[in-house]
Amino acid sequence: DKLTLIGVPLHYGADRRGVEMGPSALRGAQLQARLQALGFDVRDAGDIAVPKAEEPAASGTNLKYLHEVAQVNRELCRAVDGALKEGRFPFVIGGDHSIAIGTIKGVRKHVRKLGVIWFDAHSDVNTERTTGSGNIHGMPLAVCLGYGHPNLLAVGGEENVVDPRNVVILGARSIDPGERNFLKSQGIRVFTMHEIDRFGMLQVMEETLRIVTDGTDGVHLSLDLDGMDPSEAPGVGTPVPGGLSYRESHFAMETIHERGCLVSAEIVEVNPMLDVGNKTASVAVGLVGSLFGERIL
Ligand code: ARG
Ligand code: MN
Ligand code: MN
Ligand code: MN
Repeated sequence: DKLTLIGVPLHYGADRRGVEMGPSALRGAQLQARLQALGFDVRDAGDIAVPKAEEPAASGTNLKYLHEVAQVNRELCRAVDGALKEGRFPFVIGGDHSIAIGTIKGVRKHVRKLGVIWFDAHSDVNTERTTGSGNIHGMPLAVCLGYGHPNLLAVGGEENVVDPRNVVILGARSIDPGERNFLKSQGIRVFTMHEIDRFGMLQVMEETLRIVTDGTDGVHLSLDLDGMDPSEAPGVGTPVPGGLSYRESHFAMETIHERGCLVSAEIVEVNPMLDVGNKTASVAVGLVGSLFGERIL
């Protein structure tokens, strides 16, 4: 199988330094070698160019660095589209979570009905109307569903959206009031940490995979490392206690692999400046191993 790595050293969606070094931390944790050992023909396409913004963002704005975030996502969308055109699996490494806009909209050009697994402590369905922070990394899933600023919706075409019936959020434990209403109105299935405690990862993943494959032509995994517990993944900008354990996270990846439905993936929010050594990038690369078929036995 052929796979293209696309780095996106963007931090403007998080308005906090460090996450722009995520792609090099993941490469440094031997991501490419790990994938090659699983039989992939890996091409590293390098990094998408990130423009330099005037800092800091205008105070009081509810869409920080909109121009820069939109531009990078347009480029990313094109790169993901290009990889798929060549029959290569797009594997995007960030960078803050706002890059899911470009990734998903690029994939959607090839996959008409796309299921999405959103692995995250947060639901990232704010819009400029509901955000408290103004950080666009809290908005990408809303944009992919067709809600948000026109400049973000325009990435890859404003009709280019995913169906909320095929979206699952896994590991949520920090959801803003406006997001709660949005999730309810869209009918999106959210497995919060409460459901994961109650039902266990096996039942949660069976239901997740049923939802994201129901009538779809493929599934995208958007893996925000803050979905994991901060004890396992400390190097993230918005840590929330009480997250997925090491084994719960690997088990999720293993069941996705077994299902054989994945058409694209991205790893986001790895921040080496906040990390303990390179622990978070290493943990992320381990999850990639399970996602693509490494087995214990
Ligand atoms: N809900 C908060 C916000 O809108 C936090 C979002 C965190 N998102 C992330 N991708 N880490 O700012
Ligand atoms: Mn996120
Ligand atoms: Mn998050
Ligand atoms: Mn934030």
